[in-house]
Amino acid sequence: MIILGIETSCDETAAALIKGDGERVVVLSNIVSSQVELHAPWGGVVPNLAAREHLKNILPVISQTIREANMKPQDIDLITVTAGPGLIPALLIGVNTAKTLAYVWKKPLMGIHHIEGHIYANFVSGGGSASTMEAEPPVNKDEEIGFPLLCLVVSGGHTQLILIKKHLNYEIIGQTLDDAAGEAFDKVARILGLKYPGGPEIAKMAAVWTSDVQTYQKNKEGHPMSILLPRPMIKSRDFNFSFSGLKTSVLYTTKKQKEFLEDPRFVSEMAHEFQQAVIDVLVFKTIKAARKYNPQTIILAGGVSANKELREQMGKAIEKNLPAIRYRIPDIKYSADNATMIAAAGYFRYQREKNKEKLFDNWKNLEADANLKL
Ligand code: KG4
Ligand code: ZN
Repeated sequence: MIILGIETSCDETAAALIKGDGERVVVLSNIVSSQVELHAPWGGVVPNLAAREHLKNILPVISQTIREANMKPQDIDLITVTAGPGLIPALLIGVNTAKTLAYVWKKPLMGIHHIEGHIYANFVSGGGSASTMEAEPPVNKDEEIGFPLLCLVVSGGHTQLILIKKHLNYEIIGQTLDDAAGEAFDKVARILGLKYPGGPEIAKMAAVWTSDVQTYQKNKEGHPMSILLPRPMIKSRDFNFSFSGLKTSVLYTTKKQKEFLEDPRFVSEMAHEFQQAVIDVLVFKTIKAARKYNPQTIILAGGVSANKELREQMGKAIEKNLPAIRYRIPDIKYSADNATMIAAAGYFRYQREKNKEKLFDNWKNLEADANLKL
């Protein structure tokens, strides 16, 4: 079956068409129109600006998605849209567009939880167009993944460890008590005078530090590392996290001596130490949770899962401590917000839906919910 996905929960206007077949999902087209440039001067997403931009872009993005997949609206079997959580003015554009299209095209409609979308990015078999699909049969990701799953969700709004015993069955075993990991990256980047969104900028500066240290070591100049940040809650007995104290440590250090910020070596060292502190806690708690819950597979989800160091260090820790557990991460292009993941989650949800007929009424029933629960 062919599924249209729509995502407008934050600052990306996204649409995608996928083909679901058995337990396989193949991407036919995936369009993301980013608003990063628009929000950068404000250092974060401005909800009403985001909504205005979504409104301008949503129909062109959907048209392009359908065109690139060589499809027609009649070919679509199901419409899926992010119903929450997210910024309400932004969510409303996607949800109301999806409701209108479901009514006009007479299609079933499903609202999807944004984090469920991020989780299902792990079930997407990669790119390709309708014409190349037959030539390159996708891997059966579902069989390859294997339940139970332990998922570390790390995005701009969420940091959670979720145990997934079977499809659509979520048990949150730990979460952040304050800032989400991505939020902490963005706030620390701002303190350090780096661009929005902060995650990729911190990662870039951290990599500069790593390469500088290698140069020092090669020249036998010793290790110049001097900043040490805490690893918050790493010793706590539960699986919860806390990142706001880390941000405060960075703030105090830079407040004490503002001239530090003029020194690129300080900024790159701080970026490196901050990133490493976050990764140390995420990896330690994930391994600890895996020892307790014994999953078959550990997966990552959310925008911060694009972080190369996190991807690699988590992989190494699993290999070293729990070699029997598989490790799967989403393709980088489906780590950040996109609509393919929403369509993929919708496909698995639709297959398990007992009353498919009622989905035809969702053009009048579906509502955006900024605080939607998983
Ligand atoms: O999942 P996402 O695209 O949007 C939300 O659902 O929130 O996540 C966005 C977050 C932002 O905080 C961004 O700074 C962070 O993901 N991010 C990264 C990286 N790329 C994006 N954080 C660390 N390293 C990265 N490479
Ligand atoms: Zn997201």
